[in-house]
Amino acid sequence: MSIIYHEKQKTFSLHTRKTTYQLKIGNLNYVNHLYYGARIGDEDLSYLIRRYDRGFSGNPYDSLKERTFSLDAQPQEFTSQQQGDFRISSIEVQNADGSFSFNGRYVSHRIYKGAFTLSGLPTAFARECDTVDTLEIEIEDAVTRIRVTLLYSVFEEADIIMRAARVYNGGDKEVSLKRIMSVNVDFMNGSNLDLFSLPGRYGQERQVERQPLTHHVHKIRSGRGISSHQQNPFIALVEKKANEEYGACYGFALMYSGSFLAEVELDQYDQVRLVMGVNDRLFSYGVEAGAFFDTPAVLMTYTHKGLSRMSRNYHDFFRTNLNRSKFIRDVRRPVLINTWEAAFFNFDDVKLVEIAKAAKGMGVEMIVMDDGWFGKRDDDNSGLGDWYVNEKKIKCGLTNLVEQINALGMKFGIWFEPEMVSEDSDLFRAHPDWVMEIPGRHAVRSRNQLVLDVGRKEVQDYLIESVNRILDSANIYYVKWDINRAITDLWSNVLPPERQGEVSHRYVLGLYRVMDGIIKTHPDIMFEGCAGGGGRFDPAMLTYFVQYWSSDNTKPLDNLKLHYGSSFVYPVCTMGAHVSEASPMVPLETKAAIAMCGTFGYELDATKLDEKEIIACRKMSDLYHKYYDLNFFGDYYRLADPFEQVNLVAWECVAKDRQQAIVTVITVNLTVNGPQEYIHPRGLKPDALYKVEGDGSEIVATGMALMHAGIPIPREIPEFKAFIYHLTAVDAPAQTVS
Ligand code: DGJ
Repeated sequence: MSIIYHEKQKTFSLHTRKTTYQLKIGNLNYVNHLYYGARIGDEDLSYLIRRYDRGFSGNPYDSLKERTFSLDAQPQEFTSQQQGDFRISSIEVQNADGSFSFNGRYVSHRIYKGAFTLSGLPTAFARECDTVDTLEIEIEDAVTRIRVTLLYSVFEEADIIMRAARVYNGGDKEVSLKRIMSVNVDFMNGSNLDLFSLPGRYGQERQVERQPLTHHVHKIRSGRGISSHQQNPFIALVEKKANEEYGACYGFALMYSGSFLAEVELDQYDQVRLVMGVNDRLFSYGVEAGAFFDTPAVLMTYTHKGLSRMSRNYHDFFRTNLNRSKFIRDVRRPVLINTWEAAFFNFDDVKLVEIAKAAKGMGVEMIVMDDGWFGKRDDDNSGLGDWYVNEKKIKCGLTNLVEQINALGMKFGIWFEPEMVSEDSDLFRAHPDWVMEIPGRHAVRSRNQLVLDVGRKEVQDYLIESVNRILDSANIYYVKWDINRAITDLWSNVLPPERQGEVSHRYVLGLYRVMDGIIKTHPDIMFEGCAGGGGRFDPAMLTYFVQYWSSDNTKPLDNLKLHYGSSFVYPVCTMGAHVSEASPMVPLETKAAIAMCGTFGYELDATKLDEKEIIACRKMSDLYHKYYDLNFFGDYYRLADPFEQVNLVAWECVAKDRQQAIVTVITVNLTVNGPQEYIHPRGLKPDALYKVEGDGSEIVATGMALMHAGIPIPREIPEFKAFIYHLTAVDAPAQTVS
């Protein structure tokens, strides 16, 4: 059992392989947080909490005249409301009598095997080989009978704790949730912590930012209805001195695809509180008597071994515990070519077959027909919502087109954007009330399209039925699921005025239902997510999609940054990355080496390539397959930070048995007649001998030598050259250094 309840000391210790999380039923039955950090025993850490008479920090009534007990200075698992704690809160609820109050005290707990699940929201699951236990703690407000269940699933080997909260209305009247966070984590002294996040923008997602905590509330959030290009729903608190290999790092990844909020407050006493969950802006949710509300889950990890280990904890977990698709491990993902940057909307069946024929020589195994094949869709002003084949373009029909592609020995993929509608579409003409538009106003247009009210059941049913009809009409191997705008005009024509604050969250729940109805019913189809690039690249989406299109920006040098940033949470096998015609000054081989830090494919018109280029692509496609296992399942190391003024950018994937590794080095700024540069691989067996191949020279050296002394990178070479070093452990016994 990874969860130990100690009756006498009233503590719960949650142990993973390398971490311990401890909480306690504390004074007056408030639930205290005691510890999150390196693995320790089950001893009682209550001594960590000290009490002082803190001026202007109120005391709960039943602490009587005791002035040293204030929730303002107590580390808690979940906050109350209006009980003297002035810091950021876990819950804000308006009760039936209009009051804003919640006073949550421990009432019960239970511990069971397996992971919790949530109503309508994705969660991580336990595989048969995993040891996973769950703790549920119930706290209740004795006056309103609002009960909050704090959920903790402990994934022991993975060093991951999944958390969420469930609010149950045990009273006899409806209450309104104004804010409800999935997690609350209190640090008794956090003045040594930095806040790490992945901000960005369209075309430049998941860049990296690290900032000191100052005495205010730091907010990382999306209010865009999607998890967003601008902020990823991931943050970490990292020790100031933490680097890739050293230092305490706490990671928090929210499994939610809509507007989210993470707040971190460094308070007056240098305590730090972190909360994360659904964004409370434009949010209020009615919970009827006897009903409950589930928050999305948060995946927490801790390590004192630096950012690199934190990332690998997430990589290992995301590869195994989020998605059961056979394309995760059992079936290799094919090299694909996507038609978007090749033809945009200007294609027909003949052109597609031509591209496929030319691409075959490049080692491409699947063609993906992107936007433009349905309804009336010759540009991005019309057609969305009409999910039937445009027979002016696909003259032979979809079934026949796929047969032609299959006859070439290639697989076929297709694009959808289910959640949207064009005003110039049959769907909009038939159901203008299905869009989100506030009465008396015109909805905001973006890319000239409107958003369907996906929270509505009939909209969900239409989408499930119309997309499935296409998927079942031909031998479709792959689907790219896109969304190309943020969500505005929160309004649903089927909800009463007092429930309009639910629209944004209901949209996300509706979306998951649609995805269940399409993706989960087609286990043999490989699904890739996309949101105008990586605008909804989040852990919840990865429970449906085996990979996510990283960015609409296919410039290779920009991708170095994008991959670097993404890699803090997301494994290589989830990052969609293609070789395109962008940045002609960068050689094809370098573009391919960069795309191999992702799921690899092409985004160009194969019919325009000459023989030499076709052969070069073939070699790179072969290389993708050669290194597939290393790239997709190996341990990932960032070796050089592209955000610094570096001459080389490099990363590494090491096989789990450490017998092999690949180190990719991209020369981004080789100054003339400059210094010799070295790259230091990591994660090798120190005593093993490795043969290093990749630049024409042959090095045989111990892992120790390579890691400490480095690999010299050739100079005086053409610009933007890539080196892919393959390191293989050779049999000869190495000298052991004591
Ligand atoms: C945005 C995607 O990111 C592109 O790859 C492409 O699919 C377009 N949408 C199509 O509209």
